[in-house]
Amino acid sequence: MCGIVGYVGSRQAAPILLEGLEKLEYRGYDSAGIAVRDGDKEPVVVKAKGRLRVLADKTDNGHALKGCCGIGHTRWATHGVPSETNAHPHVSTDGSVLAVHNGIFENYLEIREKLARHNYRFYSQTDTEAIVNLIDYYYKKYKMGPIDAIAKTLVRVRGSYALAIMFRDYPEQVYIARKDNPLIVGLGEGENFIASDPSACLKYTRRVCYIDNFEMGCVTKDSVTFYDLNGDVVEKTPVLIDWDETAAEKGGYEHFMMKEIHEQPKAIADTFRAYLSDETDGKKLDYRVDLAKLGLTDELIQSLSGVTIIGCGSAYHVGATAQYVIEDLAKLSVRVEFASEYRYRHPVIDPNNLVVVISQSGETADTLAAMREAKEQGLKTLAIVNVIGSVIAREADFVLYTYAGPEISVATTKAYSTQLIGVYLLAICLGKARGLIDEREEQRLLAEIAALPEKVQRIIDDKERLQWFAAKFSNAKDVFFIGRGIDYAICMEGSLKMKEISYIHSEAYAAGELKHGTISLIEDGTLVIGVLTQSELYEKTLSNLVEVKSRGAYLMGLTTSGNYDIEDTVNFAFFLPKTDEHFADSLAVVPLQLLGYYLAVSKGLDVDKPRNLAKSVTVE
Ligand code: F6R
Repeated sequence: MCGIVGYVGSRQAAPILLEGLEKLEYRGYDSAGIAVRDGDKEPVVVKAKGRLRVLADKTDNGHALKGCCGIGHTRWATHGVPSETNAHPHVSTDGSVLAVHNGIFENYLEIREKLARHNYRFYSQTDTEAIVNLIDYYYKKYKMGPIDAIAKTLVRVRGSYALAIMFRDYPEQVYIARKDNPLIVGLGEGENFIASDPSACLKYTRRVCYIDNFEMGCVTKDSVTFYDLNGDVVEKTPVLIDWDETAAEKGGYEHFMMKEIHEQPKAIADTFRAYLSDETDGKKLDYRVDLAKLGLTDELIQSLSGVTIIGCGSAYHVGATAQYVIEDLAKLSVRVEFASEYRYRHPVIDPNNLVVVISQSGETADTLAAMREAKEQGLKTLAIVNVIGSVIAREADFVLYTYAGPEISVATTKAYSTQLIGVYLLAICLGKARGLIDEREEQRLLAEIAALPEKVQRIIDDKERLQWFAAKFSNAKDVFFIGRGIDYAICMEGSLKMKEISYIHSEAYAAGELKHGTISLIEDGTLVIGVLTQSELYEKTLSNLVEVKSRGAYLMGLTTSGNYDIEDTVNFAFFLPKTDEHFADSLAVVPLQLLGYYLAVSKGLDVDKPRNLAKSVTVE
């Protein structure tokens, strides 16, 4: 996690660095720091524990620091507690080298020990400080230039990194290096920017170069030169970023999460439209989905014996829904796995399995490692990813991009919704190629997906009812979500949304499982939320609700319009527009997102930046 920025140009660096860090704060927010250098004077380093605001106050929004060259960092602690000392930038023992780092150096302890024998002293508990000193060690011992010293260091370390480095001997230059964690250079006129993600410099430039694994660079105000590990120059073609800068701003909403919930109809429609075939021609009843252009040809699909879906957190929950949808529409067996489990499980590999990895950020460490493991085993991989150019997107065999736009709130909403669209389209393509879905059925299913944005909008328009309900439960201690089939997958996501932002303990249970132990936790007033979108399972889950009601539970029922008899059982019912039941998650998740949101707001919590979390989890 962590976000890094850098600037070299003619303007004052500190305010620009702080602005950039503000855009990256979603990557970590337990401490922050900047180093700014005025010509060839010594760099000035300022750090602060806590949110970026503390650092901004400490530096008068950056105006207290003079200099046109600098680097900055916002931290999500891995090695070493959140503190000013452990905050970046880190400085080598005699101050010759300083750096900010996103990632983890796994063998930093052995490097620290080695350097301690060479009179290096350490003030922090971080892995970064060890690496800054190692660069310094090679730089001095072999009297190398910065690029060679960095390259020598990178060969010696294990782990992942995006680094921005300043050398005392090289004023007005920032050096960079990357492996596995994102890093870009934004190209300006007489100024250049470094950042973990383009949003940090979009205000100044849209021309961006993505740095690849094991690449380094030297950034000055007028030039950027990239190198490979041998020190040879690498040519790069800049990419033009076409995001709207305001996409990463709150646009009048109190929180990014609420803004992103409202953006779901558009995000769903954009993702859906991106994969319609050219033949679709915009005519309502002439939809066709085409994933062959991604490489998923009928021939490849027909050779498949099954699908393995891998993800973490909410992305895993999308996989859980996909399992039901794909098995039903394409009659292919599907396994869903936590990436963190898959990577160490030594799975029995069926070479005809397609591995689908789902990730908003495209940089989640466990998901990336699991995908690499699958590729090493010779399996074909399809990545469903939101961030264009991210590591997972670049390494997968096939990529299905979701079009959610930048998602800033730590709790995912619109990216989740677009991932669902991705797996629905995949399920339809699999079903078609396997001869189970004919043209007419394809059109019917796609027309149902096309109608989702308007239905999601109707749910959002009804949000005040959920706000009212949430106000009654802001003191809840435990909440249970129960459902069967796809409804169980929806429960998992609803429960995660609730606990991660409102800090209310909640659990998702397959409704039939509750009676095998957990029902003992139900007592007077415990909130139990039943999700009942699957008509075949409706009566069954309703009976489970009756069971917990008789133990004192307070019931909320989330079901489809028409199931009005539920009001005889539950205390509060929320009705969803009708849709094909395979796609019910797209509607049912929205009230659950809103419920989690309103609970967090009613408790006065920081919705967009829940404690202990960060948006991109680039550590194991
Ligand atoms: C929860 C949430 C996380 C992510 C998970 C995977 O709201 O956002 O559970 O879904 O960390 O992240 P990505 O999709 O970036 O791989």
